[in-house]
Parts: sequence; structure tokens; C-alpha cells
Amino acid sequence: MDTHHPADDATPMDLESREDLQDPDVRPATPEEAADVRGWHAANRIAWDEAAEDYERWVDGAIELIRAGGSSLLAVEQELIGDLRGRCRRAIHVQCAGGQDTLSLLNHGADEVVGIDFSPRMLAVARLLTAAANARAMFVEADVLDVPHDLDGTGDLVYTGRGSIIWLADLDAWARTLHRLLAPEGRLVIFEGHPAEWLFDGDDEGGWLMTDYDYFAGPEASRGWHPGYIAQLSIPDGEQHWKYARAWTLGEVITALSRAGLRLEQVTEHPVDWWGGHRDVRADQRGRVPLSFSVIARRA
Ligand SMILES: C[S@@+](CC[C@H](N)C(=O)[O-])C[C@H]1O[C@@H](n2cnc3c(N)ncnc32)[C@H](O)[C@@H]1O
Repeated sequence: MDTHHPADDATPMDLESREDLQDPDVRPATPEEAADVRGWHAANRIAWDEAAEDYERWVDGAIELIRAGGSSLLAVEQELIGDLRGRCRRAIHVQCAGGQDTLSLLNHGADEVVGIDFSPRMLAVARLLTAAANARAMFVEADVLDVPHDLDGTGDLVYTGRGSIIWLADLDAWARTLHRLLAPEGRLVIFEGHPAEWLFDGDDEGGWLMTDYDYFAGPEASRGWHPGYIAQLSIPDGEQHWKYARAWTLGEVITALSRAGLRLEQVTEHPVDWWGGHRDVRADQRGRVPLSFSVIARRA
């Protein structure tokens, strides 16, 4: 299967080494901004709508991939999700962006898929892709905090990740949403960037060095995107909307899921370079650092 996805090459680098950024506007969020959940999400919605321009650029490739029965999910995700044929009436993808990963779940055997995202422009891409691929998919425009209740209890698979959690201001509310989307016997699969990833970077010899990143730092506000993640937009970086992100620690993520009533079956840390940001590290050094993690959980 062709598994390439633009997000494989990328991440919110505003959380990584600042030198790499072209003209970054990055600062710690103020305490007021950090506490303003709705304001944080409203800003991110505008910033992601702007960034959807980049997703519009790859829609032809996505149509081809989905029509050919391919998948944009990483090998590790495909293994976690498994063969869905005959055991998944509905897969729900939370923070689905342009829908390529969502439609890939159909090619893994889901009978139908539902994608949820708060960016109307992302969902326009997803709907274009769906129409072109004649896929059984529905897309819902909603903040993770406000997912409509008619989806409650309908996800035989609820899937999310690959650059999703950092955009959220309220992890407990997020975890409650995942919980209520799950069908009674449903399975939650999360595959995400590891928050410890930002502590490490490649040195000149392709080994690892420690960055000055603070693992326990709170949210950051930033403007503009790393070009390896979201290619240059028509809006100049300095005129783009401010956005907020936070590298929630593994402990915070796991605690929120447990608190929401999810029974964790498996939590795994992976050396998988999920966005290709550590390509400069030599093969013999790979496998030493956790760059991503996954969770499999069910309703308790
Ligand atoms: C990096 S993308 C998701 C990852 C996806 N796997 C991909 O590679 O495209 C993040 C998505 O989360 C969405 N998003 C961010 N915060 C959200 C929120 N509070 N509610 C719903 N969607 C949100 C954005 O619109 C964006 O489409």
C-alpha cells in the first residue's frame, strides 16, 4: 500500500527547535489565554482553516490513493487498527482534517466512516475526496468539545491522533467525547506524537542531542507554520492567525482517558518518526528515543 501522507513529513514545529522556523512568532501563552478554552479553540479553528489551503494541494493524489484501495495510515497504525472487515460498522475519525486518513479506514474494511473536524475548509476537502472516490463517508463540522450527541455510542472504532492532541485546551473534555462516541464493545485507537520527542534532535553526526525544550512547559502561542509541515500559504506568515498548542505529557493524556471511564488495554511507546522530523538521525541511533505513542482502550 502507498502510505505516504503530507503530515508524515511534518509537525507543529513551533514546539521544536526555533532555528528551523523561517520567521517564527512563538511565545508562551499568557495565563489568561491558557485558561480560555473556547478562545484557544476559536483561534485554532481560524489557523487550521488557513492551513487547509495546503491540504487542497494534495487532493488529486489523495483521490488516486483512495480509489486504488490504498491507505495513508502509517504501518504502525495499520497494525494497531487491524483488519476491520466484518467487525466495524462505523469508524469515527476525530480531528479528521482533509479526510484522507478517514477514507483509508474504509479501505481497511470499515462499512462506513465518519470524520469530525472543526475546520469547514478541511471538511470541504474531505467531501470533495469522498465524492470523487464515491465513498461511504459522512463529515461533521464540530469542535471536539461539541460533537453532536446523535453520534454517541456508534463507533465500533474511534480513531484519532498524528498531530491532534496538542491543539486541545481541555483534555478531560476530549477524553469524555472519545468515551461517548464509542459503541459498547467499541475500540479506541490513538496514535500520537510522543511529548518527549521535543527533547531530542539530531546532531551534526546523525546522533541524538538534547534540546533546551522544557517537557513541563505549558501552552504556546504561535503564528506561521514550519514549511516542512504546512507548505507556504498565500497569507504571509506574519499575517496568519495566532494559534495555541500544548505538548500534553503522557501522564496527562493517560490520566484524562482513565478519568473519562476508559479501560486502557495497551499503551505503547514507539521509536516511529511519525512526521519524518528526525530523518537526519543515523539508522544505528534510531530506536533509542520514543517519538510516538499509542493507546488502545475500551469503555470500562
Ligand atoms: C494535524 S491535523 C490531524 C491529523 C491528521 N492525521 C492529518 O495528518 O491530517 C489536526 C486537525 O485537528 C483539527 N482540530 C484542531 N483542534 C480541533 C478541535 N478543537 N475540534 C475539532 N477539530 C480540531 C484541525 O482542524 C486539523 O484538521
